[in-house]
Amino acid sequence: MIIGKKVIENDIAGSTNELAERLLGTDYLPEGTVITASYQTAGKGHGSNAWLSEKGKNLLISVILRPSYLEAGEQFLISMFVSLGIRDMLMEATEGIDVKVKWPNDILAAEKKIAGILILNAVSGRYLAHSIIGIGLNINQDSFPKEAGEAVSLKMLTSRQHELIACREHLFRTLDKRLMMVTGAPGRLIEDYLGSLYRYRKMADYLINEKRVEAMITGVDEFGRLCLSGKGGEEFVCDIKDIKYL
Ligand code: BTN
Repeated sequence: MIIGKKVIENDIAGSTNELAERLLGTDYLPEGTVITASYQTAGKGHGSNAWLSEKGKNLLISVILRPSYLEAGEQFLISMFVSLGIRDMLMEATEGIDVKVKWPNDILAAEKKIAGILILNAVSGRYLAHSIIGIGLNINQDSFPKEAGEAVSLKMLTSRQHELIACREHLFRTLDKRLMMVTGAPGRLIEDYLGSLYRYRKMADYLINEKRVEAMITGVDEFGRLCLSGKGGEEFVCDIKDIKYL
């Protein structure tokens, strides 16, 4: 097992991702080291979003990897293995509730957000030097503020409390299995990722470059951009800033 062989636990941190970045500069951290916190005072989400989580209720973790075998252009494989690792854990923990990966960084259960992923990759020359993989996974929180959008927790889905450390260990195992596929079976990893994508091959509404379009997600290109096919046959390749799900 690589992920979680060493765990650095914190009661309170600003952001586990920022702490991981700081520690990488000063300490020797073995491959797969995980930084956790029970509470974050400045939890980060994508863009300028905050990640809000009640104290001691959820998993707030950052995993440190040095995937020097991946070229910079292959970095989306990290997002794929992490998304699928979280999905596997949740599918097992809920005994089959449908869990989807909403490109590029949300995990949905029953169409509501249950986890968010924030990955910071550092490149050295052609290859990745390190990757800080931040995961916020809602476990025992009973309700969420309006700012969190439509959110849900494992407890809300299963109507029971879950032991945080057991959930964490479970997540490490499912992440580890998917990490092995990055080098061992990347084709299968991509196939599984597409198979678990929210709205894959379904017509739906999007705002693409400020224009409302009806389109179908057809895949993800080698740089991790979302590919869609419009109703009239037009093709779209989108970065996160180009597209909004409606
Ligand atoms: C998102 O959905 O916008 C991504 C949220 C990522 C949240 C996690 S919680 C642990 C780690 N530390 C942070 O400050 N953010 C990530």
